[in-house]
Parts: sequence; structure tokens; C-alpha cells
Amino acid sequence: MTFQPAIHLDDLPDVGAVQVLLDGRRVAVVRAEDGSLHAVDDTCSHAEVSLSEGEIDDCTIECWLHGSRFDLRTGAPTGLPATRPIDVYPVTVQDDVVLVDVAAPNTSGAGTSGPITSSKEH
Ligand code: FES
Repeated sequence: MTFQPAIHLDDLPDVGAVQVLLDGRRVAVVRAEDGSLHAVDDTCSHAEVSLSEGEIDDCTIECWLHGSRFDLRTGAPTGLPATRPIDVYPVTVQDDVVLVDVAAPNTSGAGTSGPITSSKEH
């Protein structure tokens, strides 16, 4: 695995997504409502739309254009019009920095390395 720094925890919203560029890929780093951290392709599988501009709800990210939702744990779409999964990347945290391994995407739509739960302390 080749984890690389993506974003500091302080730069992530309490619930939401931020687009980062890693190895030329647009990746959405997401903190879900339960505090878990995820990294997924930032481009919808239906069209060239940035998913990080969409809403996070119940461990899914919504495409703002047509409303498809993608499971942050598997990348699988949970509703039409998108039918193909998005890539999901392994995530870990070190010294309050979110690290992402874009060299090891999971495109099977059947589980990931598991989200990391952050405890945001101030
Ligand atoms: S562009 Fe995302 S669902 Fe259509």
C-alpha cells in the first residue's frame, strides 16, 4: 500500500466532502455523519460531475445533478440514473492527517478496507 497525505482533519467539515488531487485523480475525502472517513472518486459514474459538491447522508454521497447516491463504503450506486460504482480508496489517519492510497482502488462494489472513525477534538 502507498498511502499519501490528502488533507488535514481540521480542513474537513464535520460532515461533508473536500476534493483533493492525488496522482492526477480527483478524489473526494469525506467525513460522514458517524465520523467515519472515506475516500472515493470525485467524479460521478454517470457524467462528469464533482461528487464532493453533493450532500452526505447516511454513509452515502449524492450527485447533485441527477440525484444518484453512492455508498461511501463500497462505491455502489444506490439509485438511478447511475449504474456503475465509483472507486473507493483505502484511508488511514496519521498525526491528524488523512492518508489515502489511490493505487489500490476497490471497484468491486463489495466492501472496502473499512472506514476510519475520527474523533474530532478541539
Ligand atoms: S451526473 Fe451524477 S447522476 Fe447524473
